[in-house]
Amino acid sequence: MTAPNHSIQELLQLAIKTAGNAHAPYSKFPVGCVIVDARRQVHIGCNVENASLGLTMCAERVATGSAIAAGATAFETVIIASQGAVSPCGACRQVLAEFCSRETKIICVDLDNANQQEHTLANLLPQQFEFPTTDQ
Ligand code: THU
Repeated sequence: MTAPNHSIQELLQLAIKTAGNAHAPYSKFPVGCVIVDARRQVHIGCNVENASLGLTMCAERVATGSAIAAGATAFETVIIASQGAVSPCGACRQVLAEFCSRETKIICVDLDNANQQEHTLANLLPQQFEFPTTDQ
């Protein structure tokens, strides 16, 4: 979605709406994610559970795949909507870190849009895994 001038409120509402599309019959814990890339294009994802449980995909990773497939290379803002405005799991932090700067905003909002928590990637993941530099 090309959306050069979406307000933060519109993006929060989009994340909440996207949580409504989650396939979460096992946990009954829907999650929506909106990623705004460095071009200001907007990408969405929701969690997609599976009867095997272990094959469940988190909303953040679905949104990441969608963003990259649409040509994004860097993420500016990530919004995650869930009951309780929970922060992303460790695996998703590492996946998001691949495309985020230390300052990328990660905003967690609850499904009523009553509570928002703002983080940076650096707060959430102080030390991501990276391959060591080889120039010595
Ligand atoms: N979930 C996410 O979508 N993102 C997270 O960061 C943590 C958890 C989903 C996975 C599963 O469908 C449900 O929430 C309960 O764990």
